[in-house]
Amino acid sequence: MSLSDTVFDGLSPQQPDGLLALIGAYRADPRPNKLDLGVGVYRDQFGQTPVFRAVKAAERLLVEQQPTKAYLGPEGDIGFLECLRPIVFGAHNTAEVFGVQTPGGTGALRLAAELLAAGRPNARLFMGEPTWPNHPQIFEPAGLQIVRYSYFDAVRQTVRFETTMQALATASAGDAILLQACCHNPTGADLSADQWDAVADLIDTRRITPIIDLAYQGLGSGLDNDAAGMRRVLEAAPEALVAYSCDKNFGLYRERTGALFALARNPANLANAASNILALARANWSMPPDHGAATVRVILEDARLTELWTAELEAMRRRLVDVRTALAKHASSLASVKGQNGLFACLSLTPEQVSALREKHAVYCAASGRINLAGLTAESIPVFSRAYQAVQRND
Ligand SMILES: Cc1ncc(COP(=O)(O)O)c(C=O)c1O
Repeated sequence: MSLSDTVFDGLSPQQPDGLLALIGAYRADPRPNKLDLGVGVYRDQFGQTPVFRAVKAAERLLVEQQPTKAYLGPEGDIGFLECLRPIVFGAHNTAEVFGVQTPGGTGALRLAAELLAAGRPNARLFMGEPTWPNHPQIFEPAGLQIVRYSYFDAVRQTVRFETTMQALATASAGDAILLQACCHNPTGADLSADQWDAVADLIDTRRITPIIDLAYQGLGSGLDNDAAGMRRVLEAAPEALVAYSCDKNFGLYRERTGALFALARNPANLANAASNILALARANWSMPPDHGAATVRVILEDARLTELWTAELEAMRRRLVDVRTALAKHASSLASVKGQNGLFACLSLTPEQVSALREKHAVYCAASGRINLAGLTAESIPVFSRAYQAVQRND
């Protein structure tokens, strides 16, 4: 047998994930004052990503009380889904919603991609740029035709709303749009209430299916406010998918905790979507991992733990707002971050300036110019502001 006949030989090498490579470079950097603004997790004022106290308490209860670890089924923990629904949908939490538990928001997006491809093999998916780099990697292999449009003006630091509307105006019935509900990754620039209304109207008239990625609920302007634009779209759309992550707002990251919700006004269509989602989940992972979802359920079933969780989430949100306010105060060229939401901002930096930040100032951020604001503390904000201004002057 010739070695060139093998399966592995037929594979083309893949680029390592840029952010994961950045983590490696940061770890290897011996400079004591180095600053990691690359990785996308929340950090407190001590630079830590602690487990929520509500999560620890729920985990203790689970260890003591969980009667079995037998399989639950492809839909996962039904109690988790029931507890989550009012938080996600508010007053829109009706019988028109079907949910399954998924391995993180990523698993939910993956199911959404496969469902879309199964229902509409020729569908076009409208996707604003820049976006979370995993979005195209998830949706393209499903065979969907991705239509990209420019979502963000990095120089002005604003949403390019006109290009969004122009792109949507070319969509036809059965096409889909991927929208981030809040705390846009990587830009932090969300649609305003009026802009959500306009998008909802277009989705309604053109019968476009929205796929909403809700990965940061509670980290922008509060749990309800962060879902308000999305809920407006859901009222307008004949059907929709919501990919939800609990990995940030419960700090469960590695527990891979999320859900996919399908909404349809027509009950037969909802039942059809539900049976297909369950079949896809069964084929992908058979049953989702349990621990994160069980932890969220224990928190949300208990009023005291729910109160503790919302207080911890609110403290995270406040810290992000405070970092944004302090940055804007330190450098007028960073003033825009104050009006943006969540963990990220996408600064207008050339690749050379990103390299200079890393090489001259030991500041690590994504090649796109995305920074994680939670990587900053009261001590490092002035340091970062000075470094940012220096690379802007090409010093
Ligand atoms: C915009 C966006 N959607 C979805 C996800 C997926 O989250 P999870 O870790 O739950 O898979 C992320 C994670 O970074 C994200 O930034």
